[in-house]
Formats: sequence, C-alpha cells, structure tokens
Amino acid sequence: MAGHITFTMIKPDATGAGNTGAIIKMIEDAGFQIVAMKMTRMTPEVAGKFYEIHKERPFYEDLKKYMSSGSIVPMILKKDNAVEDFRKLIGATNPKEAAEGTIRALFAESIEANAIHGSDSDENAQIESNFFFSVPERYA
Ligand code: RTP
Ligand code: MG
Repeated sequence: MAGHITFTMIKPDATGAGNTGAIIKMIEDAGFQIVAMKMTRMTPEVAGKFYEIHKERPFYEDLKKYMSSGSIVPMILKKDNAVEDFRKLIGATNPKEAAEGTIRALFAESIEANAIHGSDSDENAQIESNFFFSVPERYA
C-alpha cells in the first residue's frame, strides 16, 4: 500500500474563509480520490499532539492556538505517488514561496495560516491517518 495514501487536513483559516469546497475541488481535479473525510475541531492539546514533532520549534505554541482556532477537515487521499504529488499540489509552507496555481499560493494567508497540511512521508501518512480515523488500512 505504501505510496498510495496520503493524509491532509484543511486548516482553520481556509474553512473559516469559506474555501473548503474550492480546495476539495482542486484535490479531486488533481486526481486524488477522497477515501475518508470529516469536519471537526481540535483542542490545543490535540493540535499539540498532532504536531508534536515541532515541539521544540519557536512557533509551536502559536501553531497549537491557530490549529485549534476553528474547524478542520482531515482526509485520507488515494493516488499513485500520493505523498509527493500532494506536496506539489499544496506548494511551499510559506505562500510567498509557493508555486503559482498551488493550493497555498491561492488560499494561504501566511506562513502559519497556510490553508492545508500534507504528510511528508509514507510513514507519517499512516501515522496521521491513524490519528483521525480508526483502522485506516481499510481505505488503502
Ligand atoms: P504541514 O506539516 O502543515 O503540511 O506544513 P509543512 O510540512 O509545509 O511545514 P512544517 O515545517 O511541517 O510546519 C508545520 C506548520 O507549522 C506552521 N509554521 N509556522 N511561524 C512559522 O515560522 C511557521 N513555520 C511553520 C505552518 O502552519 C506549517 O504548515
Ligand atoms: Mg510538515
């Protein structure tokens, strides 16, 4: 199954601005199949656990606050070469550096409020899918 699944989450700036539908449309138009999806909201504690890898970074406290400030839409996506292709579709972390036509170039507000998350490896795609959905193997 490795290589076929990635995990994404539409972030609070994008859901709050009414961009959820437009972003989902871009994801589907790029050839990703949405195999799991929900709209939910994280507490700062849950957001901190999701981004625990960044706990030593200076932006960690801000990130917890921002990621718990509104609704999020976690999804599991299926496609060949899913992780790499999806990172290309979303663009660079900083929207000022994101390539034209990418989701972050179109919808991100700032380096923090950057519209969308994408897993950075097959291993993390599994871990992150498991964080929000039970038995993620069933979607593979
Ligand atoms: P993500 O994990 O959300 O897909 O983003 P990424 O790989 O492009 O970037 P990463 O380095 O993993 O950072 C995670 C999220 O933390 C926020 N951030 N803020 N203020 C800052 O300098 C800063 N740097 C990162 C962003 O929301 C980023 O997506
Ligand atoms: Mg990351």
